Amino acid sequence: MNHFEYRDNRLFCENVDIEHIAEEVGTPFYVYSSATLERHLKVFREPFAQVDHLICYAMKANSSLAVMKLLFSQGAGADIVSAGELFKTLKAGVDPRKVVFSGVGKTAEEMEYALKTGIFCFNVESLPELEALNAVALRLGKTAPVSIRVNPDVDPKTHPYISTGLKESKFGVAWKDAVTAYQRAHELEAIEVAGLDCHIGSQITQVEPFIDALRKLKELVAKLRGMGIPLHHLDLGGGLGINYNQEAPPHPAEYGRHIVEETRGLDLKLVFEPGRVIVGNAGVLVTRVIYDKLGETKRFLVVDAAMNDLIRPAFYGSHHRMTPVHLHDGRTLHKVDVVGPVCETGDFLARDRELPELRAGELLAVHSAGAYGAVMGSTYNARPLTPEVLVKGGEWWVTRRRQTFDDLIALEFIPRETGG
Ligand code: LLP
Repeated sequence: MNHFEYRDNRLFCENVDIEHIAEEVGTPFYVYSSATLERHLKVFREPFAQVDHLICYAMKANSSLAVMKLLFSQGAGADIVSAGELFKTLKAGVDPRKVVFSGVGKTAEEMEYALKTGIFCFNVESLPELEALNAVALRLGKTAPVSIRVNPDVDPKTHPYISTGLKESKFGVAWKDAVTAYQRAHELEAIEVAGLDCHIGSQITQVEPFIDALRKLKELVAKLRGMGIPLHHLDLGGGLGINYNQEAPPHPAEYGRHIVEETRGLDLKLVFEPGRVIVGNAGVLVTRVIYDKLGETKRFLVVDAAMNDLIRPAFYGSHHRMTPVHLHDGRTLHKVDVVGPVCETGDFLARDRELPELRAGELLAVHSAGAYGAVMGSTYNARPLTPEVLVKGGEWWVTRRRQTFDDLIALEFIPRETGG
């Protein structure tokens, strides 16, 4: 459930008329609903009310400081994958003891930053990384809490670009090497084995892959305990899918119920790293029609948002539901390609989409854009980064302003030798 709804044919985010924001901020922009964010976190957390757990919001999905602040103030921690993300979470007021650090390529500098910050756990993805972390921790006179991210070789049945738990994936330690990795972690002086971690993929729309992975992890927990390697937590990653189009992902309550049943008696704190399920349907990208263009074989709706603002359709062929911000009675339906101004054939937001006629200047809402939207934005074609707006009830704030042209060149330098 989310808080984007029509009132008198006008799309509202909570109690704010989206057209009103467009008039003040210009287009395109992202708009997030704080009530939806809060609700999604609450719903995700509910099934775990009776068990020891920690929710580390996967901030890669949406790292707006304002969005994170809201989630952190509701008790969430963070799953991070870079020093930049650590910096941002700290700026947003995360409790460092609720931060897990994932990723296959942590550098020594990043490890040092996280060790000095005092995070909850490093999710280590290879033996070389384990050795490197031990060396950094030794040098700093610290102990690094570690989970090994194992690769349970489970098919999450999702898009290949976002499957991470298969044998051929770059992520995690191979299942057959997991015990050896734990033995090594156990003997390294500056490493403290804290937990076990896996993340099998994203936009997963069935419970089975999660449970298959969990069953394999339970076998490993038993084996490690038998070897005298105690664990304190089990990190099940993120990945729960959302409804973009016709998918029917399990409700978080159902997902949670299965996990709670399957982990009963295990005596481990449960850690989760949800991203999309928290923010995906809490955000909409609003764009304005520039032209309604009739090609030889197709009709194009040229809008002012492009692949640099929302890359998911171009990159993964993702479907984002679209609706006019202002509904008009009696408009004919047309099959259109919704395209942006970027000079790439791949620059589309939708292909062959049936939409009511939209005229130049009218607004279009691209739904389910709260996750992996603004964060994957770029300035390709020298297009300034899209602003972000947060709504709470009847109030709203620009939480990231639109980049200016001066911002676009702020990092650049022209050497005198090239004529500067
Ligand atoms: N934990 C780890 C270690 C991850 O790599 C990810 C996502 C998550 C948690 C959060 O997964 P979620 O709950 O959001 O599914 N850009 C792609 C998605 C990439 C996901 C990367 N990892 C997209 O737009 O679909």
